[in-house]
Order: sequence, then C-alpha cells, then structure tokens
Amino acid sequence: MAVGIFDSGLGGLTVLDAVSRRLPEVPFVYLGDNANAPYGVRSADEIHALTVAGVNRLWQAGCDLVILACNTASAAALRRMQEAGVPQGKRVLGVMVPLIEALTERQWGDNSPPREVALKNVALFATPATVSSRAFQRELAFRAIGVDVEAQPCGGVVDAIESGDEILAEALVQSHVEALKRRMPFPEAAVLGCTHYPLMAAAFQSALGADVRVYSQADLVAASLEDYLRRHPGMLGTGPAPMFLTTGDPAKVSNKATLFLRRKITFQAA
Ligand code: DGL
Repeated sequence: MAVGIFDSGLGGLTVLDAVSRRLPEVPFVYLGDNANAPYGVRSADEIHALTVAGVNRLWQAGCDLVILACNTASAAALRRMQEAGVPQGKRVLGVMVPLIEALTERQWGDNSPPREVALKNVALFATPATVSSRAFQRELAFRAIGVDVEAQPCGGVVDAIESGDEILAEALVQSHVEALKRRMPFPEAAVLGCTHYPLMAAAFQSALGADVRVYSQADLVAASLEDYLRRHPGMLGTGPAPMFLTTGDPAKVSNKATLFLRRKITFQAA
C-alpha cells in the first residue's frame, strides 16, 4: 500500500514534490494520464471517465488513498466519484478543499455554517473546464459568505508549459491577468487553481502586482495530507518503492518531467 497521486499530465508533479518533501517516509505512486492530457478542454463526462480509469489503476498498484493532484479532475469528477461510492477501504481526495480552507482561514473539518471572512475579492485562474464547473465557488460557499470570485479560464497555458515554451506561457499569463483585471481591477488575492501554474507563479505575481497575495496549492495540500494521515494512519502502508507511471510514451514523459522538476525522473508504462 502506498499513496497515489493522479494528474492529467505533469502538473501534479508540483504536488508530488511538496508532499514528498513533507512526508519523506511515504512511498508515492504517481500516475500521469499524458496520453489524454490536457483535461482542461474536455467535457465533464470525459474528465470523469478518464479520472475513474486513472484512480482504478492506482488502486491496482496497491494505493488505498489517491490524491487527485489536478484541479480539473477534482472539479469535474471528484464529487461524482464520491457520491457513486468507492470500494471498501479506498479513499480519493482532491486538491481544491485545502486551498479554500487556507483562503477562508478555516481548520480542517470545521463544519460550522459559512461566515464572513477577511477576503472580499478573489481572482481565480484555472483551466476552462475547472472554471465552467463552478466547483471552486460551490466549495467556497460552504465555508464563506460575501466573497466575490472572478474566474479567468486560462486557455493555452497548460499546453505551453507541457511543451516547454516558457515565453509563450508567460505571454499567455500576462494576457489572462489583464483580461481578469478588466473585470476585477483590484483583487486582494489570486488563486492558482491548476497544478501546472506554480511553475508560472513569478509571472502571475508580476502581472498581478506585489500587493496581491498569490495562493498556490502544493504546500497546502502537503500540510493537509500530513494531517489526514495522522488521523488515518491505516491509509499509510509500507508499500512499494516510489513509482512514476504514465499512459503516454515513458521516454518522452521522463524527459519532460526531468525538465519540469529539474531532477531526474523515470516514468514507466502504466
Ligand atoms: N494540472 C491540471 C489542473 O490542476 C490540469 C491540466 C490539464 O488541462 O490537463 O487543473
């Protein structure tokens, strides 16, 4: 048994990096569905079907707990999977809730009614599928009232990052931030609601200005996973050695992942 980390492609590696730094004794099995990425331009039904297949693969690999290290999968598939029920002893968790808890300064498991929070104007940057799901606004409404969320679908950014075109990715970030600021000129906080975007955090920060607090997920998810495993030690096993699986071409994905994380990563076929 090990903890599974699922993403459509490489973005989840930002989460994998943070969780493995925080929990070095935990074996993680990473699965990137590179053959079907990007998810952000797919329909909710397609994203759901692909996510179910990926999570099943990680369960087969001996993981009892799977983290959807992908906002698009968390937004479009998680609730449906949880409502349909998962096999006995298995769990699947997403990356959006830890971020919202940090934003609303609520503790894990605080189920009190939604209340006013300090933040009033929040900019959300995410894939088109995440934005159209409105899952972020729905989860936020369970916890906070009076927060205005302006969401910007960031078409093209994931493709530019996955193809290693940093200049294009920066130009796209700049134009998406400008588009958002035309609708919300003074956001107090910005949420990078896609696990690829931490790689462009500096570009987002510089386009938004130094006074906007930029939230990204990796460290928040790592802290929340540590807390979860402390409360559910049975979900953590001794497990196999860490593994990187892909539905794409292992050699190509390994090269890209090595550039992406700036350390050697070797993927094998899922
Ligand atoms: N990294 C994923 C996310 O967090 C999505 C990338 C994609 O479009 O596949 O939303």
